[in-house]
Amino acid sequence: MSEKGTGTSIVSTLTFMKEVILANRSTGALAPSSKALAEMVTNSADVANARVIVEFGPGTGVFTKVIERKMRPDALFIALEVNPEFVKATRKSCRKVHVYHDGAQNTRKYLQQHGVEHCDTIISGLPWSRFSDELQDEILDATFDVLRPGGKFITFAYSASPLLPSGKKFFKGKLQRKFKRVTRSKQIWKNFPPSVVYVCQKG
Ligand SMILES: C[S@@+](CC[C@H](N)C(=O)[O-])C[C@H]1O[C@@H](n2cnc3c(N)ncnc32)[C@H](O)[C@@H]1O
Repeated sequence: MSEKGTGTSIVSTLTFMKEVILANRSTGALAPSSKALAEMVTNSADVANARVIVEFGPGTGVFTKVIERKMRPDALFIALEVNPEFVKATRKSCRKVHVYHDGAQNTRKYLQQHGVEHCDTIISGLPWSRFSDELQDEILDATFDVLRPGGKFITFAYSASPLLPSGKKFFKGKLQRKFKRVTRSKQIWKNFPPSVVYVCQKG
């Protein structure tokens, strides 16, 4: 089956697993996300109608490929990734996205390079519960800042993450305080580990 058909190729899974071991703290995952989670996240983000799309932490590009398939041909799509191996992997497998080797906190700079100030939707794969309090705040502020009014911010969490102290602080506290409207999906069992998706809308 083609890579498109399988969703995640064996090579990209191996690349991901290597970085899970070598860069565990920033990767913050046990495996790449599933096709089911990618569908849920991209549908929630309404990527088909977005003109400017941003992805945080594409990893090996599981969400990126689905975004590329669903996005408008004239949409601008940029991604920010801190791990150089993942930058290489996503650039190789996804041709419509501009992948920058930088932290999500610096998104504004790259939007401005493309002549825009705001985006319609942000899809995050970031491991929030692995971040310090300060980094959570820095990225969340930057997220809110670049999102247009009415824009959507989509992020997922392993089901146990909101129970950990840093996860609880982020998902049950900071997200709710920052955004006017936050909804949480049902458990997505077809992902390892099972996950939930948060859909946040800027007022
Ligand atoms: C849980 S993995 C998710 C990867 C992929 N989106 C998926 O769902 O399979 C988290 C990703 O966020 C990246 N990351 C961590 N901190 C980041 C930051 N400050 N800015 C951008 N990417 C970051 C990691 O390198 C990794 O690729």
